Amino acid sequence: MTTQLLTTSQQDLEKAARLIRGGGLVAIPTETVYGLGANGLDPEAVRRIFLAKGRPSDNPLILHIHDAARLPDFCREVPDAARLLAERFWPGPLTMILPVRDLVPKRTTGGLDTVGVRCPDNDATREIIRLAGVPIAAPSANTSGKPSTTTAAHVLHDMDGKIDAIVDGGPCRVGVESTIVDLTAPVPRLLRPGGIGPEALKALLGELEYDRAVTGEVAADAVVRAPGMKYKHYAPAAEVLIVEGSAEAAARYVRAHFEPGDAVLCFAEELPCFAGLNPTAYGREADPASLSAGLFAALRRLDDGQVRRIFARCPSGGGVSVATRNRLLKSAGFRTVNAETKPSPSGEGAEQSEADEGASGRGTADGQ
Ligand code: TXA
Ligand code: MG
Repeated sequence: MTTQLLTTSQQDLEKAARLIRGGGLVAIPTETVYGLGANGLDPEAVRRIFLAKGRPSDNPLILHIHDAARLPDFCREVPDAARLLAERFWPGPLTMILPVRDLVPKRTTGGLDTVGVRCPDNDATREIIRLAGVPIAAPSANTSGKPSTTTAAHVLHDMDGKIDAIVDGGPCRVGVESTIVDLTAPVPRLLRPGGIGPEALKALLGELEYDRAVTGEVAADAVVRAPGMKYKHYAPAAEVLIVEGSAEAAARYVRAHFEPGDAVLCFAEELPCFAGLNPTAYGREADPASLSAGLFAALRRLDDGQVRRIFARCPSGGGVSVATRNRLLKSAGFRTVNAETKPSPSGEGAEQSEADEGASGRGTADGQ
């Protein structure tokens, strides 16, 4: 199949909506990442999403709606908390898990009796949903296991020939996926940190629990509430190791362990510290939104087959940085090393590197 490239002109949005109504696959821009969209009420169309991504079929999809008023169409119960959250954060990077109505196929929900719903903050995509007259089921538009796509070029790289069209809405503003909150749990539960910081959710809800998939590595056979959290994610071909501590300590550590084929992923402010160590900046430490916006694009740039190992610097702090940290930890398989407490061997190169990486923090909490 030939993958058409569409713009956000009204004519192209109508074309995209027609493709969706006809059971096709269309990549759609959102404020978080690009989505791989199909009619969420058509099991056959939804099946094609799983095929194109190579995604395990037990991993449910998020339904995208163009207007919060549509929530009761697909959810059996809409508690006050959901209305409050929708009013405050929609359109925006928040997905709510609610009890699902029978009209939503099992293929979409991965067989669960709940569904994730979100109203994205992107005019073109909301217009496509409105024109299509159906909710759009969309996972991130990447090959399963790879970093999510934040530009149309990324989508084309992963999906060329596998989907009907890509609507190019420019680079995604937020750059990490939506925050997922489960409102069917006794206490609202954070299943995935994302574009909305957990503090803002908690302030509105009063209470918020963190699922353990958020804070640590989850075994592949574990029962987790967001099935997607148990799979390997965001992983470039290169091995990723997170180096914690001051820029100076981290640079000393990397310098002592650096080998040909290694690279550094760091904050723009730290580029001088890592001079000569093949550094790439993904944003500015002083501007956490630039880090979330730049992370996946940078991981993809480094995923060129030449880079063997990536030493990565990870932001601290709340808000969207909780999500940036979570995605980096996942791409690293939760391997971290603290450069302050693991001083580098003075000038003798890399003998310690294997041991250091092996000893590093499986299950390291990502903050909260
Ligand atoms: O920002 C986003 O959320 C993007 C854009 C395209 O909207 N979408 C996205 O979808 O990230 P995806 O499929 O890549 O990630 C959705 C996550 C998966 O981990 C999935 O397991 C979880 O949401 N999920 C979906 N429905 C669920 C449900 N009913 N209960 C628990 N987790 C659910
Ligand atoms: Mg995804």
